[in-house]
Amino acid sequence: MTKNISGRGQRELREKVKTARGRKLSSTLWLERQLNDPYVKKAKAEGYRGRAAFKIAEIDDKFRFLVPGARVVDLGCAPGGWCQVAVRRTNALSDKPGKKVGRVIGVDLQHVDPIPGVELHQLDFLDDEADALVKGWLGGRADVVMSDMAAAASGNPQVDHLRIVILCEAAAQFAFDVLEDGGAFVAKVLAGGAEASLQLLLKKNFTKVVNIKPPASRADSSEKFVVATGFKGARPALSDGADQAGSDLPDATPDRRDSEA
Ligand SMILES: C[S@@+](CC[C@H](N)C(=O)[O-])C[C@H]1O[C@@H](n2cnc3c(N)ncnc32)[C@H](O)[C@@H]1O
Repeated sequence: MTKNISGRGQRELREKVKTARGRKLSSTLWLERQLNDPYVKKAKAEGYRGRAAFKIAEIDDKFRFLVPGARVVDLGCAPGGWCQVAVRRTNALSDKPGKKVGRVIGVDLQHVDPIPGVELHQLDFLDDEADALVKGWLGGRADVVMSDMAAAASGNPQVDHLRIVILCEAAAQFAFDVLEDGGAFVAKVLAGGAEASLQLLLKKNFTKVVNIKPPASRADSSEKFVVATGFKGARPALSDGADQAGSDLPDATPDRRDSEA
């Protein structure tokens, strides 16, 4: 019998997607990348709504701001992977006896299907009343504001970069209004040069500002994340009284030594 050395008939390790009539090459390549992406498979296996969940998990493994008891606001949360990670780590479902119980508020322009442990709101965070609404829902200030927001892609990398920097600066202003002293801010930016003003703004308001590209962020993507910790100062008393309610809560201080890996 002749030995088969052609390799034909052997199972290919990498899945290939046939180009179908009507499907663009870019869609075929996207599909192929999804099928072969270990983070996509891992997200499915672990019940996350998307591979993005691993970006915030890896960032938090390093900085540990998602701790039991933390109050988290996730801006641009759809479909909900970041929120799912936040729920598990902050003990928002109160399923870790003896640990402080966190809160997770998710905000997005789009509808998001319910996520256990998350309070979801369909809202444009740029709306004038958004900061007050979030503080009202929280009954006080947040310990973490995180944003994976992206504006709709224009196809022009420079325009997209500027748009995301603008979104990010607006998210930072939101954080200044909503964060508790010592709180953390995490946001997606695109590398491209226009983010210097954002860095400056963050350095004035936080004790530490670091840029990070977690392993789950695709190497061919220009995205990176800015992590700012140690918010230097909540703004003085607010007229809606929500602040007072928050600061009086006995259990409002998250346990920073008690995070889950
Ligand atoms: C990349 S997705 C977020 C993915 C999410 N982190 C996850 O893990 O599933 C970006 C989201 O930002 C939202 N977004 C963009 N601009 C927004 C705005 N002004 N207010 C609220 N959400 C916004 C978009 O609707 C989109 O769902």
